[in-house]
Amino acid sequence: MASKKILVTGAFGQIGTVLVETLINKYGYDNVVASDLAPENKLDSLYEPLNILDSARFKEVIVKHDIREIYHMAALLSAVGESKPLYCWDVNFGAFLALLELAKSTGVEKVFFPSSIAVFGPSTPQFNTPQESPLVPSTVYGVSKVAGELWSNYYYMKYGLDVRSVRYPGIIGYQTMPGGGTTDYAVDIFHQAILKGHFDCFLSENTRLPMMYMEDAIRATIELMEAPAEKLTVRYSYNLSAFDFTPQEIYNEIKKHIPEFTIEYQPDFRQAIADSWTKSIDDSKAREDWGWKPEFSLESMVEDMIIQLKQKYSK
Ligand code: SER
Repeated sequence: MASKKILVTGAFGQIGTVLVETLINKYGYDNVVASDLAPENKLDSLYEPLNILDSARFKEVIVKHDIREIYHMAALLSAVGESKPLYCWDVNFGAFLALLELAKSTGVEKVFFPSSIAVFGPSTPQFNTPQESPLVPSTVYGVSKVAGELWSNYYYMKYGLDVRSVRYPGIIGYQTMPGGGTTDYAVDIFHQAILKGHFDCFLSENTRLPMMYMEDAIRATIELMEAPAEKLTVRYSYNLSAFDFTPQEIYNEIKKHIPEFTIEYQPDFRQAIADSWTKSIDDSKAREDWGWKPEFSLESMVEDMIIQLKQKYSK
């Protein structure tokens, strides 16, 4: 495998942390540069502190390490975005547009843009949502992701910049905690089940959302980035799916492993966000174009999460 310098922004985030470790295992320590806001590195990797809103500093990091690929994971999630809409736009979209411009004038050849099920809105078909669907989201997070998708496609068409993207469903992993999202409950529920045997859920029991295990999400990301360019027919963002469930369904599944586990439902403002998203996703285009196939089902994900977290908490 030819070496290439990779930059991961948002490297301390829920997905970024696991992505950096996986990329290092794959491409070698010296080929992966992690970056995030904090002055000190929290990972076992090369590191550059970087505020993505500072494009001069962004350029400095790219040039210093002769970066060829960027996984742009830095973003605010849906719930926190609603409390700071303009800031969310600047971080999620303004910084991304600056990145696309930088990529044109430096040696960056490939960019990964994480989009989301949040691009969908009330006018999108709710079940088995097609690749080509109306994108009229009701959150600023969703608006920023739709804009990111469209500009990714534009830079590909106009300048030939190799931008690739998936619409992540809610991501569940034992390695890291999400922060400020609407699907966060599906991670927290495991921690609370093991630590307290009780969970207060901020979504109502029948709120169905598309979800995916971290292992599959990381594999999808890297498989898309490694796919031959000529196979890719979607340059805005690929629908991506594994399974979908409601809080009640995941509770029932966890209860099989922790029989004394209890749950209460106290929906808050995040309920409206979840209700505006679709419930299941048709990802046949990703399957056709670059061979995407999830490995984890709801059952195998729950089983693995509980084994991994019990191990983590017993240390
Ligand atoms: N998981 C994200 C959120 O809940 C959506 O992409 O905000």
